[in-house]
Order: sequence, then structure tokens, then C-alpha cells
Amino acid sequence: MYFDYAATTPPDDEVLKTFDAVNRNFWANPHALHRPGMRAEQLLEQARVQVLSLLGAENGFRCIFTSGATESNNMAIRGAANRFKSRGRHLITSAVEHPSVLTVFQSLESEGFEVTLLPVLDNGTVDPEELKAALRPDTTLISLMHVNNEVGAINDLPTLGKLIKENSNAVFHVDAAQSVGKLPVDLSKLRVDMLTFSAHKFYGLKGSGALIFPEKMVFKPLLYGGGQEFGLRSGTADPARAAALAKALRLSLENWDEKLAKVSRLKCRIVEALTEIPDVEINGSIDEGSPYIINCSVAGIKPETILQGLSEKGIYISTVSACSARQTIESGVVRAVTGSPERAQHSIRISLASITVQKEVDTLCATLSTIIEMLR
Ligand SMILES: Cc1ncc(COP(=O)(O)O)c(C=O)c1O
Repeated sequence: MYFDYAATTPPDDEVLKTFDAVNRNFWANPHALHRPGMRAEQLLEQARVQVLSLLGAENGFRCIFTSGATESNNMAIRGAANRFKSRGRHLITSAVEHPSVLTVFQSLESEGFEVTLLPVLDNGTVDPEELKAALRPDTTLISLMHVNNEVGAINDLPTLGKLIKENSNAVFHVDAAQSVGKLPVDLSKLRVDMLTFSAHKFYGLKGSGALIFPEKMVFKPLLYGGGQEFGLRSGTADPARAAALAKALRLSLENWDEKLAKVSRLKCRIVEALTEIPDVEINGSIDEGSPYIINCSVAGIKPETILQGLSEKGIYISTVSACSARQTIESGVVRAVTGSPERAQHSIRISLASITVQKEVDTLCATLSTIIEMLR
């Protein structure tokens, strides 16, 4: 039983079929001028249009297909910071961003940029007032996540975007790796400039993601070469991966509200069970966070021991962000949210998906409670 869907989801059969069919039938180089090349290019461009339309970004935005959110984050942050450095070198992000954002800011700091790391409220979100106070005339880029990957906190993008646009000329980049495909993201209604996501978070393929950015925005690429993807990401584009991403996004957004309601009910059941176990504290907000993510700290028991105990019963959860699970014990996110090193060292994450069923949740709740009792 898998409860680590915030780390990745299984690819949907339909997505795999699309990937296979495009690879078999339209494998020509999409940049070639011959007929098979042009057909492959057509599919690539169709996927681009579909992705933009599913995100309310038909007007004024471009989509670049990338290898995932890590690459998109690197490209957006580095690209925007360097593009506007003649205007200013002050950048803003938050303390709870994914490492693929935080470490890019750290590297920019070593290159002479000044970075303000915003704290978060105890529900894990950025306080708009803190952001307003941090804005300066030389601020050129603000990067904040939509949904936090460890505690599920949802930043108020409409308020943050409005505030940024009314008080600065800065570019607003959003890492939406944990929201795209799960919650509605409509760029026509948000004042967001750049948006990052990964397909494998919503039943797409690993090594596949996108960056959405303003049509008029030019920035330095990370990869130089043949000038593909508007000159911003060189290398032969992959129509099969692009078509699979568009398919995954379309399917995951079908009946998204029903899926959200179902997952919310499952989350409630888990939270109820957790609150009945002594010395278990929920990290982040129970009611306002993403229904897909639950984070709690179990006092006095190492999270690895709980993970191991559950794993032996065929139940899989995670400790800190999966990408850094082998490097760190303390969760920087839980520390920033709760202010407690104890809780940060004892946190576990349970993450759900639309394919999670009640029976699995019941088994998880019962097993978790038994294991914690046994370990005490
Ligand atoms: C919020 C967030 N941003 C970025 C990433 C990086 O995504 P990928 O590993 O697909 O590049 C993840 C993956 O866990 C994430 O949760």
C-alpha cells in the first residue's frame, strides 16, 4: 500500500499508450523539414497548446518542455535573475521551498545576488505582510511554491500575486509541482509570470515537466545548442514525452473536484486516527492544507523506525522530502513551520492520490497506531 504519492505517482495506462504510440509512429526528428518530421512537430505543438489551455495560459504565455520541475525551477530562477540583473540583484524566496529552488538561490547568492528568505506562518504559508515588507525597488524575482511538498501548505497565490504586481516590477515564479494536476491552476486569473511542474506527480512520466513563462520574456538558457524550444532549451525535442504530459494533465484534471473531495475525506479519516494516538502532532494546518499531504511528528520515535515497521507490513510512507531522504534527518520545512527541532527530527509524511481507497487508509490507520504503541 503506497502512501508516498507526493514523491511520485504510477504512470497512467493511457499515458503509457500515448507515449508508446507516438514513439512508434511519429519518431522522426520534429525539427526536420520532411513530412514525418513535420508530423512529429505537429504533435509536439499540439501538446504545447493543450498544456497551455489546460492551465488557462492560452494568451500571452509559452510552454517549454523540460526534464521536470528541477530543471524548470533552475531555468526560471537563473534565467529571470540574470535577465534583470541590470535592474537589481535582490531576490526573494521562502524558507520552505523545495531544494531545487533553495539551492539555486544559494548558488546565485555566491554569484553576488542578495536573497531574502521569508519565514512562514505556523500553517506553513508565506505571510503576505512579510512579503510586502521584503519588497525593494531592486527586487527583480520572487519565487514561492504553490503547495508545499512536505506539509501540504497552500500559498494564497491570488493575494501574493496581486501584492507583488501592485508593489513592484518583480517577476513572480511559482513552483507548482505539488498542485498542477491536483488543484485547479488558472493562469488567466493569477498574476503569476512563470510556473513550474513535473508530469510524474500526476500519473505522467518521470523525466518530463514544463516551464510556462510570458511570451515576451527572453532569458538566458541553461542548455546551448541547436536553439530548439524558442532557443531556450537546446536538444532534440521529444513529441512522445510532450504528448504523454498533455494527456496526463488532461486526465488528471478530469473531475478534479470529485477527486479532491474524495481525497479530503480520506485525509480527514487519517487525521482523526492520528489525533487519537498520544504524542502525535500534526505539522501545518489540518483544514487549510492540501488534502493530498499529511505530515505529523511522533515524539520519541525515529521516523525511520516507523517507516521500516510499516514497510515490513507492505505500507509505504516517507520521512523528509524523498529527494533528500538519504542526506538529512531533520526536516528544514517542519523546523520552519513549527520552530521545533524535536518535531523536525520526528516527522513523517503520508501522501495520497485520487487512486487511494478507503480500505488502504483504514489499514494504514490501524497499522500505524499498533506500530507506534509497540515502539513506545
Ligand atoms: C515542490 C517540488 N518542487 C520540485 C520538485 C522536483 O521535481 P522533479 O524531481 O520531478 O524534478 C518536487 C519533487 O518532489 C517538488 O515536490
